Formats: sequence, structure tokens, C-alpha cells
Amino acid sequence: MSRTLRVDSVTPQSDVIEAAAAIIRAGGLVAFPTETVYGLGANALDESAVRKIFEAKERPSFNPLIAHVADAHGARGIVSAWPDAAELLASRFWPGPLTLVLPRNPIVPDILSAGLSTVAVRVPAHPVAHALLTAAGLPIAAPSANRFTRLSPTTAAHVEKALGDRADLILDGGPTPVGIESTVVDLSGPTPILLRPGSIGLSLLQEVLGPVRVSGEISGLAPRPAPGMVERHYSPRARLLLFGRESRSEMAETAHEAKRRGERVGAILLAPLDVSVDDCALLPDDPAAYARDLYAALHRLDDAGCDLILMDSVPDDAEWAGVRDRLTRASR
Ligand code: TXA
Ligand code: MG
Repeated sequence: MSRTLRVDSVTPQSDVIEAAAAIIRAGGLVAFPTETVYGLGANALDESAVRKIFEAKERPSFNPLIAHVADAHGARGIVSAWPDAAELLASRFWPGPLTLVLPRNPIVPDILSAGLSTVAVRVPAHPVAHALLTAAGLPIAAPSANRFTRLSPTTAAHVEKALGDRADLILDGGPTPVGIESTVVDLSGPTPILLRPGSIGLSLLQEVLGPVRVSGEISGLAPRPAPGMVERHYSPRARLLLFGRESRSEMAETAHEAKRRGERVGAILLAPLDVSVDDCALLPDDPAAYARDLYAALHRLDDAGCDLILMDSVPDDAEWAGVRDRLTRASR
């Protein structure tokens, strides 16, 4: 197992942060909490350190990584253009769960961007992530700390389960407060494009930027602008089925049939179901609270050995867009 160190999520202990920063500077891998999910971090400017991330995650090399920096000044150091839109979004939402895609500065190794001419940058708000970035004095490449296409981790235990001994150190700062990955906005072209929805929604972005395009689905094996576009993603091992609110009896019938076949059935619901299942999680009917708890519920039901997970689909409103995106991809 990787070494895990507990760290205070409000006032991180400087000796723990220093130990983690030393591993990053030496080219090693450190898993750490951000406000969204846990990341698997390495020195973003060191090609061989970044390669270790791809190996640990078994992630194909066409999937670019996000470089995390301590502040907007650090972001400007790894991009080659800083348009007004970047300044507007950075001053409004950083530190926070927002990633900006901008033209890449040549100091960033090709491998980080999967050969694209752009780089994704984010200033995380979590005190542990911020302290680590400051102590390391480097941009830190960090995808979610899970195996490729699997569920993102929102606790250190999820990271241990997914990556075993593949990180040199895991910083355990408790559960992550946002719970789904950052909103990703591409600012490298003439019109901003929302590549991945998250807790910072389209309407907030439009409030600051004016028109924003929403990226359509991309398939095929060419370099993808957004790895979140890989069709099956954020997935538990179990089969996942979504049911509209008007399809509760169908859900009950599906549970019934699966149990008759001898399957273990779980459910993740917004309201109790009047048929018994083997494992059940009731999530809050509020998008932020739901996002915070979603991955932990999926991990728990997966670990319990569910073959099938039945889920209430979430409302069609804009504020649920981030959650809806994850559920759609996980249920493919
Ligand atoms: O919340 C998060 O963003 C977490 C934490 C750890 O910060 N990280 C994360 O990284 O979710 P990852 O590797 O699992 O997802 C990478 C996302 C992709 O979905 C894609 O949208 C974007 O980053 N991305 C990275 N580089 C890009 C680029 N050059 N062009 C377009 N999108 C890029
Ligand atoms: Mg990921």
C-alpha cells in the first residue's frame, strides 16, 4: 500500500506538506485532495514524472492532463496567451473548481497536453492543494486519482482502493466538498466553449463572458479536446440504469427481475422506493449536496458487490447539468 498521511483540511500541517512537496520536486507521485475530487499529482514540467501518472492510471496518452497552479500568476507562466476572458474568469472564480484551456507555453512538455497546442490550468481552492502547490513551487499535473474510465475518488480510501501502491504518498484530507470534477472552459478560440459541465454552471459563465458554446459529443480516436468525452466514463463496475420520475414502477419491476436472476441490486434514489433492494443510498434533492455525495454512494454500492445499480434521474434544470453529465456517462 502507498503511505497515507492524514492532514488537516483547514490548516494543513507544514511538515506533512513539506514531505509531499519534496516528493513532487523529486519527480514522484502524490495523491492529494482538491475541493472537487482527489488528484494524482506530479511535477507538470517534468516529462518523466508526468509519464508516471499515465502509467499509474493506465490512461491512454491522447488524454491531456490539467496543470494546477497556486494562483493566476502561476497560470500565466505556463500559457502563451492570457485573453481578457481568462482574466475575467480567473478573478471571479479562482481559486475554485474551474479549469481554463489556453494556448500552451513551450515550457510545458508535450505529454501533459497529449500533443495539443493548448494546456488546461486550474487554481484549486482546497487548503491542502494550495499549500502543496505553494510549497512545491511548481505547477502540478493532476488528473482524478482513479484508473482510466473508473469512478473519481472523493476520499483517500477511494484512492487507496484504485491505485494501491502506485502513488508515493496519499494525503488524506477527508472527503472533498464539491464532489464532481471542475468545469472546463476552452478559451483558446474566438468563442469560449464549455467542454465539461461542473458546479460552476453555464449561466454563471455567460454572466461573466457573454456567449459560451457548449461542446457536442466527440467520438473516434483522434486527440480529444476533453477526455471527459470518452463515452463511458466515471463508471462503477456495476451496470447502472437511470429511471425518470414517472418510471418508478418500471424501476421496481427491474429490481424484482434482477433479484430473481440472483443479482445483487443497489439503488441511488432521491426518494424512497417501495420495493426492497440489497443496498440503497438516498441522496439529497439539491444539486450541490447531491454532487458532494454521488461518487461515495457509487463507490459504496460497487464495493458491496452490486451487479446492478438503479438510479433516479435528476431534474432537467441547468443547475443539475454537472451531475446529469456524470450520470449519463456512467450509465452508458
Ligand atoms: O476537478 C478536476 O478537474 C480534477 C481535480 C483533481 O483537479 N481533475 C480532473 O482531471 O478531473 P482529469 O484528468 O480527470 O480530467 C481532465 C479534464 C478533461 O475532461 C478535459 O476536459 C480537460 O481536463 N483537459 C485537459 N487538457 C485539455 C486540453 N489541452 N484541451 C481540452 N481539455 C483539456
Ligand atoms: Mg478523471
